[in-house]
This record gives sequence, C-alpha cells and structure tokens, in this order.
Amino acid sequence: MERIHLHDKTFRICIPHSDIQKSIEVLAAKMNKDFEGKEKPLFVSVLNGSFMFTSDLLKNLTFQCELSFIKVSSYAGTSSTGEIKEIMGLTSEVKGRSVIIVEDIVDTGATIVELHKMLMDKGAGEVNVCTLLLKPEAYKKDVKIKYVAMEIPNDFIVGYGLDYDELGRQYKDIYVLDTSGE
Ligand code: IMP
Ligand code: MG
Repeated sequence: MERIHLHDKTFRICIPHSDIQKSIEVLAAKMNKDFEGKEKPLFVSVLNGSFMFTSDLLKNLTFQCELSFIKVSSYAGTSSTGEIKEIMGLTSEVKGRSVIIVEDIVDTGATIVELHKMLMDKGAGEVNVCTLLLKPEAYKKDVKIKYVAMEIPNDFIVGYGLDYDELGRQYKDIYVLDTSGE
C-alpha cells in the first residue's frame, strides 16, 4: 500500500483521487440545481487547505458566480487549537450578498462558526457552508453544513490541499495517519 512520510509521521492512502472527483461532481450537481437562476453567489474559499477543492468544485459549476479568498488558521500539528485568526482579509464586498464558504474540512467547527459570524457581521444576506470533508463525530456546532462532499471518521488526514504542519498539500489523493507501526 502506498505510504508517504511527512515530518515524523507516516500516512497511508485512504481516499483515491477518482473518489474525490466523483464526490465533487455529485456535490456540484446539487449546487447547480440550487443556484441556477438565483442571484450570483460569492464563493469565499478558505486558504490554504481549500485551494484544490475550490478549483475542482468551480470547474463543475454551471451557474455564474464570483470567487474570493480568505486566510485563517486554527491548527497546530494534528489537533485543532480552537481559536482562529483572520490572517488575510476579504477583498470583496459581501453586503446583502449570497455567500458560500468553501472549506477543505470541518472538524470541531471552530473555524466555520467564526467565519460564518464574521460574514454575517459584515452584512452578508445569506451564508451557506460547503466543505469537501466533514468529521460528524467531531462537529457539534449549530451552524448548518449544507454542502458536504464526503463524511469521514475522526482521523487526521493529509493530501489534496490538507497539510500536516505545512507538508503534504500537493498529493492528489487523501492519506490518513498510519498508526500500524507505532
Ligand atoms: P476546525 O476549526 O476544528 O473545524 O478545523 C478546521 C481546520 O483545521 C480546517 O480548515 C483544516 O485546515 C484543519 N484540519 C482539520 N482537520 C484536519 C485534518 O484531519 N488534517 C489536516 N487539517 C485539518
Ligand atoms: Mg483549512
């Protein structure tokens, strides 16, 4: 089985690229249905982790939309620190607009709850959340995660944009922490 080594840890493949693409196509079809003929939404992609997902998702959308990026950080190592910092601010006007947050993964939800609040405070008309991955066992917050491509167990993963202390983002498959050798 294919393994990768990042810093002090080993990861094994768990979601191949083809499965990721299929789940994104299904999600995009749902969004195409929901947003066709509606006011053009603004996608707010959360850097760095969402860069690959944002690219593949938007390639599958048929309705008109705008795209903006924001950079926040909450993770150190392999567990969430629970607090987020807005590092790179939004450059688009959100007042009265339909906004869709694009996340790579929703874990404890600290990031998404803060971002949702921040966008509502800036006067967004509606804020929806779209994520490639959701860890349902970890997510206990009230903000509804309307668009989810895949649900995964409470494991630490890397690849397809996701990192372990900044390494591993470039892989086209998703890998899970391999504890078999410990
Ligand atoms: P939350 O605020 O706890 O929901 O964590 C969200 C952020 O932490 C995501 O945007 C990711 O950048 C990062 N994250 C959460 N789980 C993982 C993981 O399993 N691998 C890598 N990064 C993760
Ligand atoms: Mg992220």
